[in-house]
Parts: sequence; structure tokens; C-alpha cells
Amino acid sequence: MFLKNLWYFALPSRAVPPGRMTPKEFLGEPVMFARDLQGQVFAFRDLCPHRGVPLSAGKLVEGTVECPYHGWRFKPSGQCHHIPSLVSGQDLDPGKISVRTYPVSESNGLIWVYIAEQPGEAPKVPAPALDLPPGARPRMQEMQLFPCELDSAVVGLMDPAHGPFVHKSWWWRSTKSMYEKAKDYAPVERGFTMVAHKPSRNSTIYHLLGGDLTTEIAFHLPGIRIETIKAGKNQILSLTTCTPVDATKTEVTQTFFWNIGWLWAIRPFFRPMASAFLAQDRHMVTLQQEAARFQPRQMLIQDADTPAIWYFRLKKEWATALEEGRTFDNPVKPVTLRWRS
Ligand code: FES
Ligand SMILES: [Fe+2]
Repeated sequence: MFLKNLWYFALPSRAVPPGRMTPKEFLGEPVMFARDLQGQVFAFRDLCPHRGVPLSAGKLVEGTVECPYHGWRFKPSGQCHHIPSLVSGQDLDPGKISVRTYPVSESNGLIWVYIAEQPGEAPKVPAPALDLPPGARPRMQEMQLFPCELDSAVVGLMDPAHGPFVHKSWWWRSTKSMYEKAKDYAPVERGFTMVAHKPSRNSTIYHLLGGDLTTEIAFHLPGIRIETIKAGKNQILSLTTCTPVDATKTEVTQTFFWNIGWLWAIRPFFRPMASAFLAQDRHMVTLQQEAARFQPRQMLIQDADTPAIWYFRLKKEWATALEEGRTFDNPVKPVTLRWRS
């Protein structure tokens, strides 16, 4: 049901401070994040293999995770190394017991988790790496829980036709400023990109940045959108990730990076705007979910819905390639899409 062998955004680094366990549900699985004594993040299935108590309710002791029920201890590798109830002569080897671990990757203040098809398998694709200097940290981040499955959240994110209606506001768009667009698209490794171009005349906010402005918007499986705005040396990177909690809830997280000093000054205004923007998208999927019991038909039209069509093709190809044990063959071909928005 969820795409496997891919990296999903998990948490911001600051949500996993040393000495604490952070439980979180992903793709219908209980997962717990913590740091080892060297500060490296690790992730366990948040269920004790003894009797299924959440390990995150226990404590971290000398770099191991101690279950709150009978005190079994697990190393960051997932291997059990201590069972307090054992007495001499009982030959159970704790090292033969282990809890499922998930590969994790941490960079630029973000933690990603790899969901393997086969539990315990090493990642087959590299962790997402943003086009940022290693020291770059999120300047602003906002997570909203969308009451829908992953697909509706992702499709809403890449839909170019809803802007003037859903995101109507004096500082962004209005239906009065609609005009025809033509944008070049090209495949990228596990997705596609709207190749770098000058932004629309009608997105006022971009023009505050001045200079020779270009923007590029890329989409990567499973639900990662990266918008890069460049004006000379100035850069803003806006990352939007969709991570399914389960079949009916999806976390949509927006993270902004920038290297422009004066943006700090407008941050107090920018934050509520970004938050309102995301809430407008959430409102639409909420309406959609409320109507879902009537099982409405869904249509995808050319060209405005082409990115959504590609998303479903990419998904299908990823799942099929995995099933057939072959390499993924990106179904997207370079093309110019045209629509009015
Ligand atoms: S349930 Fe965890 S140690 Fe028994
Ligand atoms: Fe939107």
C-alpha cells in the first residue's frame, strides 16, 4: 500500500535531543527515534519483542534502550544484550533476540527514515541530499496533519491549477491575475522537475527578492517537493514532504532554508503566511475527505493534471520494478505543459 525501499522525511533533528526517545507512527508502523552515545540517530520498531510494550515508554541507560516492563536492554543495533530475569544455568542467549531497526540519515537538520521492503535490508537508494551547504539549517518549519491518505496530499501539492482559487490572497494570487503558462518539464531520478525558469509575473512575493530570479520545482518519490529560488547569490529552498502516518492521515511538513540576512526581519510575518498557505491546501483535502463517502469519480485532465498523472505512473512503475526485481525506468519524458492559472 505504501511505496517501499524509499526514504521518507521523519523529524527535524531538534525533535530528537540526546537522552530522550521520540515515538512516532509512520506508514502504520510504530517507530521510536533516539541517539546513541556518539549522538548518531537510530530508529527502532517501537514494540518490545518480549511482550509488545512500546520501548519509548522505557528509558535510555548507558547507550541502550531499556524496556519499561521487564527491563530487557537493546543496543542501538537492535540486538538485545541484557535480560535481567535470567539466572545462571538458563542458556537463553539475549544476542539472538532483536528489535527491528530502520536505516536513518541526518543532514541539514533533518532526519530521514528508510522503509525497506524486507525488514533489516540495507538502503538501495541514497538518502535525500538537498542542494545546500552542510552547515545549512532550517530557518522555518511548519508541520500540518492532513486528514487524508498520501495520494491526495501529494496531488494537491503538485496541482498548478488550484493556486488562484485556493491560495487567493492579496500577497499571493487572485483569479484576476490568471494567464496562460507554458513550462518545461524533464524527468529526474525518481520524479520530475519543472526546469529552472523565471517565475510567473503574477507571484508578487518573488519580486521582493530582486535580481536575476529563477525558480525550479522538483518532485521526487515518495512525496518530496523541492522548490529552489535563486537570485544571484541569494537562495531560498523550500522543501515540502508528505509522510503517511497511516492510511487516513498524512503529515505535510514545509521547511525553508535561506541565506538572505534580511529575511530574518520578515520571518514573523512570513510564518503565519506559510502556515495559512498550508492550511488552505489542508482545507481542500478535508472537504474532499468529507465527500469521499459518496465515492465521487475523479478526473485528471491535460495539461494541468499531467503532473498528477505522472505521479501515479511513477508510483506504479516503482512498485512494479520492485516486484519484478528490475531497475526503475522513469516513465516521464521531457515535455512542455500548458495551462491557465
Ligand atoms: S515486554 Fe519488554 S521486557 Fe518484557
Ligand atoms: Fe496549494
